[in-house]
Amino acid sequence: MSTKPRRNQTVWKSPWVFVLAAAGSAVGLGNIWKFPYMAGENGGGAFVLVYLFCIFLLGIPVMITETLLGRRGRSNPVATMKVLARDAGHTEKWSWFGWVGVACGFAILSYYSVIAGWGLAYIVKLLAGDFVGVTGEGSGAIFSALTQKPLTLLGLHTLFMLMTMLVVVKGVRDGLGRAVTILMPVLFVLLVIMVGYAAFSGDIMSGLRYLFVPDFGALTGDGLMEALGHSFFTLSIGMGAILVYGSYMPSSASIGKTVLVIAGLDTLVAILSGLAIFPIVFAAGVEPASGPSLLFISLPIAFGEMPGGIYFGGLFFILVSVAALSSAISLIEPAVAWLCQTRGVSRLKSGILMGALCWVIGIGTVLSFNIWDSALLFGTFTFFDFLDFLTSSVLLPLGGILMAIFAGHVMTKASVRDELSSMSDTTFSLWYALTRWFCPLAIALIFVLGILKMLGVA
Ligand code: TRP
Repeated sequence: MSTKPRRNQTVWKSPWVFVLAAAGSAVGLGNIWKFPYMAGENGGGAFVLVYLFCIFLLGIPVMITETLLGRRGRSNPVATMKVLARDAGHTEKWSWFGWVGVACGFAILSYYSVIAGWGLAYIVKLLAGDFVGVTGEGSGAIFSALTQKPLTLLGLHTLFMLMTMLVVVKGVRDGLGRAVTILMPVLFVLLVIMVGYAAFSGDIMSGLRYLFVPDFGALTGDGLMEALGHSFFTLSIGMGAILVYGSYMPSSASIGKTVLVIAGLDTLVAILSGLAIFPIVFAAGVEPASGPSLLFISLPIAFGEMPGGIYFGGLFFILVSVAALSSAISLIEPAVAWLCQTRGVSRLKSGILMGALCWVIGIGTVLSFNIWDSALLFGTFTFFDFLDFLTSSVLLPLGGILMAIFAGHVMTKASVRDELSSMSDTTFSLWYALTRWFCPLAIALIFVLGILKMLGVA
């Protein structure tokens, strides 16, 4: 059997920093912006049920797998896949998979940064009182006035990318480690205040009913694929971000327990975000199924109507930006780690280079909301929709299948057991069975079913 590879000796100061970093990566626009509107579009409780199923039976086992690959390889996704495949006596072509992951992270960050830029703009708009007493039409007009201006969007996208790069170039310990230790607790406190506010001044019963009473009729094939893809997106798995964070994890930490804590926190934040948003939206009599603009059109109307709404609104969008920043860092980290570790380029240069590249791709998303809004790919997708669909509905689930196959069939059982040594025999057997058979098959099944339903065949 191979000896344990040890390439990268940088580790987080404590296992807690891994939890905070991974939770910081997991909790982001996916939880606060995407989850509520996706639930809104796909039948509320029905979507939430499928989503929870995907998180617990597919997401958690795959997240354990991804973390263990990273900690065993102790490197970026490309080098890790190469080394682990070689150690197991398989082809080094597995490193291609690492490349796809790095590219996927780029694609996600390129649009993520544009949306996060809206969040930055909304901090100022809310605090300035732009939404006080505004009607549905007025709020829609403020939003489209923003998205209609490519240069403003570009400026905001630039600002957000600069913030991300600033943290990334500071390095793993001082940049990432310190940033998440401060950002994550702030985020939780802000969110709890928001839910309290929503429960107090909103329509909490309607919110609860909406999120938890299932309407299976409203769940389409698209919705099924979205629930699967989103469970991967929200946990940050399937492209190597968690793999890289795992490569900085101390060997003594228990992967299983850590992953459970992170997935639990992430799910809690998604549900809490729903509970912060929907009661306010219902109390204001706004339509919940308003897509990506739910957070930016419906919610501000509600803030504008409520006493103290300007401050809570401003606070809320600060929260959104904080969450987005700690996620954005993890999307670019695999690429930066690759350039530093494999090419010997300094962290500063790698950060600037990768950030610049991502910024350029982001211009496509900036234009999707104005100049290119009717230039549709395949007749349905704007550039932004296409990137979103390709990455979260296709690439992340496929990445999950490949990682599960890799740990379950390519690596030796002894080496995965060694990495999960603190797991009990029963838990290990359960995880191993899920990874070897259940995850690849179930993900493939949902994927195919989603496509068939989308094409109207099933
Ligand atoms: N999980 C983050 C969110 O919910 C987004 C994210 C960060 C991500 N890193 C990732 C998604 C890696 C997929 C892969 O907003």
